[in-house]
Amino acid sequence: MNEARIEDESSQPSPPCVMVVLGAAGDLTKRLLIPALYNLMRSKLINERFALIGVARNQMSTEEFRQGLTEAIQDFVTHRGGHDEDAGLDQTAWATLRERIEYFQGELTEAATYEELRRRLIGTSTTLGCGGNCLFYLAVDASLFSPIIHRLAHAGLVKQTEGWRRVIVEKPFGTDFESAKRLNADILSVLEENQIYRIDHYLGKETVQNVMVLRFGNGIFESLWNRDHIDNIQITVAETVGVERRASFYEKTGALRDMVPNHLFQLLTLIAMEPPNTFEANAVRSEKVKVLDAVHPYSAADALKNSVRGQYLAGTVGGKPVRGYRHEPDVAPDSNIETYVALKVTIDNWRWAGVPFYLRTGKSLPRRSSQIVVQFKHAPYVMFRETPVERLTANRLILHIQPNEGVSLQFGAKVPGPMVRVGEVRMDFHYKDYFDAKPSTGYETLIYDCMLGDATLFQRADSVESAWRVVQPIIDSWAAEPNANVAPYEAGTAGPTLADELLERDGWHWFPVV
Ligand code: BG6
Repeated sequence: MNEARIEDESSQPSPPCVMVVLGAAGDLTKRLLIPALYNLMRSKLINERFALIGVARNQMSTEEFRQGLTEAIQDFVTHRGGHDEDAGLDQTAWATLRERIEYFQGELTEAATYEELRRRLIGTSTTLGCGGNCLFYLAVDASLFSPIIHRLAHAGLVKQTEGWRRVIVEKPFGTDFESAKRLNADILSVLEENQIYRIDHYLGKETVQNVMVLRFGNGIFESLWNRDHIDNIQITVAETVGVERRASFYEKTGALRDMVPNHLFQLLTLIAMEPPNTFEANAVRSEKVKVLDAVHPYSAADALKNSVRGQYLAGTVGGKPVRGYRHEPDVAPDSNIETYVALKVTIDNWRWAGVPFYLRTGKSLPRRSSQIVVQFKHAPYVMFRETPVERLTANRLILHIQPNEGVSLQFGAKVPGPMVRVGEVRMDFHYKDYFDAKPSTGYETLIYDCMLGDATLFQRADSVESAWRVVQPIIDSWAAEPNANVAPYEAGTAGPTLADELLERDGWHWFPVV
């Protein structure tokens, strides 16, 4: 490992608490929550006075629940555990976590479940001596957010008389601007904003958080970070997976709702925000909202002109044949749901006036790769014009978000030899070369922060609404013209050609998906 300055040794264990997972029998618990708690346990970031109560409608005993999780964690460590998977399961950490887990069966919409939960919470909390601190995790379908939160409130479970009470809500938070507003109002009728932690798992990703450190922890970038020096910014979240087994959700959602107002806008706001006065939750979140509020609002015609939607046809991804979206199980044979979306947005403020931001995301693309490409303006004067140098390439700063996390700087250098020729070169920084990254699902940071009461990496009510407000004209214009802009693309290619035209008409090209 390089001589890196690793400064996270000072992290303290979370405060004591009980975590209640509502909808605990689902995939999320097995695939993400328990692995995240296990990783936290291994890093000694979970308080010794911690317990987890799982609740779901499935009939099983605590022992059966624990057994299912033991199998899942084994699979996680073996197949998805990160860099130290060879070391196998840390039996001590898992045994410690396992014995703190209990389960009971209950219908999540019935009052009796919450009476039982209250009884168990009092018992567990007293035994642990955790001062009544409790974190409720809603690992359920979005239609259950409101009913569950009202049930928790009616049972007196969210009152913060003794200890804190916090609720984590997964996405999707609403399906459009109006529904997000209604959901916020409904939840805020029984909870304080500072009790609600709206998750966007992109904010748990190390490199997403590092966008802020790169910009505001270094002196060299910020002076260039504006319309005087930047030509355009491209944000790409490319996935190789198709719709998988989620067609019933995806057919109602599509790529725009699934990825843009949340994950892509997190990247957009971090790249475009003004420096916050402090690294405090509300200061950071307020700056992010300001970016969304400054996004130029589209008329219906402009929304159509500046957006492209695509749907994958049969093709080959990673050497494997992939069927077309319309032939996926549970997808309507004439479905117009987009599996790809590309957008151009501009930001009406002093820093970004005139700088286009191009965003794209899609499924069944050739590579899994999320990256932000900041393309700088050309040098103002080409003094090599009497030489074979016809055109200097643009300088680009590329932030690689996943899977290979890092930062690259692309610039021109003289090709050795008697002639003056300029070649494009790259300086690459890879996180793994410097930092001994801990295995992470991204949920570790979020769960840990919630336990600490730090909401910086969670979405505030206004940011969710502002994000939906930005995409609403696109949703509306697509609904009004269901066939406009729907461009097919072969699975395994970089998306529809219409998306290329979105940039070409401004004189740009997408940076390749690498
Ligand atoms: C989820 C979307 O929020 O994010 C999925 O619902 C998508 O459709 C996933 O595949 C992408 O997350 P990641 O972490 O794999 O980039």
